[in-house]
Amino acid sequence: MALSSVFWRLNLLSKPSVSLRALKPFKPKPRPMSSLPISSKSNSSNFSASKNPTFLDPKPRTPYPQHDLIVLGIETSCDDTAAAVVKSNGEILSQVISSQADLLAQYGGVAPKMAEEAHLQVIDRVVQEALDKANLTERDLSAVAVTIGPGLSLCLRVGVRKARKIAGTFSLPIIGVHHMEAHALVARLTEQELQFPFMALLISGGHNVLILARDLGHYVQLGTTIDDAIGEAYDKIAKWLGLDLRRSGGPAIEELAQEGDAKSIKFSTPMKQHKDCNFSYAGLKTQVRLAIESKNINATIPVSSATSEDRRSRADIAASFQRVAVLHLEERCERAIEWALKIEPSVKHMVVSGGVASNQYVRARLDQVVKKNNLQLVCPPPSLCTDNGVMVAWTGIENFCMGRFDPPPPADEPEDIEFDLRPRWPLGEEYAEGRSEARSMRTARIHPSLTSLVQASLQQQL
Ligand code: KG4
Ligand code: ZN
Repeated sequence: MALSSVFWRLNLLSKPSVSLRALKPFKPKPRPMSSLPISSKSNSSNFSASKNPTFLDPKPRTPYPQHDLIVLGIETSCDDTAAAVVKSNGEILSQVISSQADLLAQYGGVAPKMAEEAHLQVIDRVVQEALDKANLTERDLSAVAVTIGPGLSLCLRVGVRKARKIAGTFSLPIIGVHHMEAHALVARLTEQELQFPFMALLISGGHNVLILARDLGHYVQLGTTIDDAIGEAYDKIAKWLGLDLRRSGGPAIEELAQEGDAKSIKFSTPMKQHKDCNFSYAGLKTQVRLAIESKNINATIPVSSATSEDRRSRADIAASFQRVAVLHLEERCERAIEWALKIEPSVKHMVVSGGVASNQYVRARLDQVVKKNNLQLVCPPPSLCTDNGVMVAWTGIENFCMGRFDPPPPADEPEDIEFDLRPRWPLGEEYAEGRSEARSMRTARIHPSLTSLVQASLQQQL
């Protein structure tokens, strides 16, 4: 029997180059959701996500799962090793995160090989702790969800291997999760009123996207960054200002900015001339670096040891940077709201999520923009904005309830098997009318977007 099946979700399967052995037919444990389309019907093992994206239950299930599912979520896409156990009623049974903050502080950024090593060292403990805190064993789980992209391949692999090991050993279905979809959907866990369609601004260390979420798996990308994400700018500038990076650069800048005068340095707002919803932070970073140099700030002297005058100039720079960085978000959100309402006049909410959304200044400023446009802001609590396992488990639950998941992997899957990871994987298709002339240098797409895969599958079901 081939590996892929009608309930394939994201081709979370070993690549076809790997020799595939016959699988036991998947017999789900008797659980309340047994009405889901669990079938042993299979497609070719030379399955290609782009050519043959078949899966899905043609009749969508209730978007709010009523059944008592319990899902383990695993997240290792960047520098945090996270796991959580979540119930389909939205109850968070446990949440564990092991951060690589010390490595980050030491190297001033994420070094993939070292990050992989750090994940490997803690993954077993993090997952075990998540199960222990939930007072459960693997046998109590309904499924395992794991981030398969975007992110660093070396890091993603650690989580996927662990998830497949558990799913294989305990015969559990597995759901491959898109990291940015998870950042957006976790808002539906915290705000149960949040229905599709809604808008989302997802701001993190590696991503900066504005989307219109029309439905589960149907996202229109209104804007993205043409160079750096805002979180990356916060991190770099924190390093140049000699801040303590152990909690990452964002919180350090946010804190210092409170002491500074945000109008003291006139940085120019990025992309003013581009009437679209894309972002750029590389130029602002350069402006800030020049300001730091002109004030002779020495990053090797930690801000805690700086003279009061030196500390004051660092605070002014932090505050001035933050004001303009967030102004850029505000301007793009204003336009994106206009665009989104043209496409979906029933939009009522704007979700702001991802690590940078835990910033209080960011929240307050975006709240004003959203309110002015008669929408409501939905921000998950800070602990669910930064990378976490809850968002992965929840996204797993949402997709599982629509029949979008994979069968359990073989229990004896070899350790060195190659997985279908998606380091560069857009969430949605670009909004055609909003296409920018300012093109990204980073256009290489390894995978078709999540939305194109889901929509192609739905078409096939018709
Ligand atoms: O979503 P996330 O945890 O990981 C990625 O997917 O990248 O986001 C991490 C980013 C980092 O750049 C970090 O500096 C930023 O979120 N961040 C913040 C704050 N907390 C975390 N940025 C600004 N203010 C904060 N309070
Ligand atoms: Zn993230």
